[in-house]
Amino acid sequence: MNILVTGGAGFIGSNFVRYILEEHDEFKVLNLDKLTYAGNLENLKEVEANQNYEFVCGDICNADLVSLLLRQHSISAVINFAAESHVDRSIAGAAEFVQTNVQGTLNLLDRAKEHGIDRFLQVSTDEVYGSLGDTGAFTESSPLQPHNPYSASKASADLLVHSYHHTFGMPVLITRCSNNYGPYQFPEKLIPLMISNAMEGKPLPVYGDGKNVRDWIHTLDHSKAIEAVLLNGKPGETYNIGSENEWANIDLVHRILELVGASEDLITFVKDRPGHDRRYAIDASKAKAELGWGPQIGFEDGLAETVNWYKQNQEWWQNIKAGGYQDYYRRHYLKERGIKD
Ligand code: NAD
Ligand code: DAU
Repeated sequence: MNILVTGGAGFIGSNFVRYILEEHDEFKVLNLDKLTYAGNLENLKEVEANQNYEFVCGDICNADLVSLLLRQHSISAVINFAAESHVDRSIAGAAEFVQTNVQGTLNLLDRAKEHGIDRFLQVSTDEVYGSLGDTGAFTESSPLQPHNPYSASKASADLLVHSYHHTFGMPVLITRCSNNYGPYQFPEKLIPLMISNAMEGKPLPVYGDGKNVRDWIHTLDHSKAIEAVLLNGKPGETYNIGSENEWANIDLVHRILELVGASEDLITFVKDRPGHDRRYAIDASKAKAELGWGPQIGFEDGLAETVNWYKQNQEWWQNIKAGGYQDYYRRHYLKERGIKD
């Protein structure tokens, strides 16, 4: 199978590319990534020399480029990871989110429709369902109620993807996964930010009362779910992916501090994220029943391994933190969230 993977230089995409090349000698992977602040070719060093892998730097919104790649590489499956993915950045400015997440997905759909395709897999998120109260979990039939510009752009893309199945019979699949963690996650997201700040002795900024709940899954389990949906998912269907692993942010931060061996005094409560979703929880029973998929990595082990990875790969995240990310950090935390410089 010749697969066009978009956004393969980001966190989840790069973990997926490494995994799928390792698992399937028969797959060829073409990675189209614009290399925004979140894209990093260092994530893909291990596969650079793999003959089944090729990288193209470009934008999923570029119609001519996408058409050319689909044709030249005889692509039969598209997996769309490419996105602006950070909620806080979408609150600071949503235009880029609509451009990439909505227009970019639409362009991929149109080009794939012209070209003819066996599989179009849209990598989506549980955030499209909005927020939960103290109990219950999102199922595939939960209503779409996105609350922030990021999740609204992802929900818009999902609706377009589904409409291309209904209207044109395109063989689309949608996955909606909960919060991922693991190696190579950009250090502006909760887990890598807290690990790296703890290692540097910097404040750990916890939004609001710290009691917002997220449902964490290791990115390798997410990769395996995407593989299962790609190979065995039913066209037109949506699959929730999750690991039944809910943590209040503050409890998770305490656990990270323990694993890093840093002081609890670093915890700093800061101004809450506007419109902050209170709780996410995913019911993944459909993917389990229909695809035989299930998460394999326990959170205790996965988190400890992840902390070790950040300990052993300090150069990777220090390079990122020393670069343009520093401007974002200053603006976001020091000014908007009131941490002193
Ligand atoms: P990320 O921000 O780490 O990576 C996004 C990648 O997309 C980067 O490599 C970036 O360069 C690339 N990209 C951005 N705009 C592009 C464009 N216009 N053209 C081509 N490439 C472009 O994101 P991530 O956390 O790896 O998330 C990947 C996908 O998974 C996203 O679609 C996200 O919505 C979804 N998702 C993420 C999570 C999570 O917990 N991180 C959970 C569920 C779903
Ligand atoms: O649920 C899936 C989503 O998970 C994905 O679709 C998104 O792409 C991904 O970024 C993630 O979104 P979240 O907003 O849940 O992730 P983030 O790491 O930004 O925040 C996790 C929780 O931690 C959230 O409740 C906000 C809180 N937080 C976050 C940061 C960055 C803090 O308390 N302090 C922080 O500094």
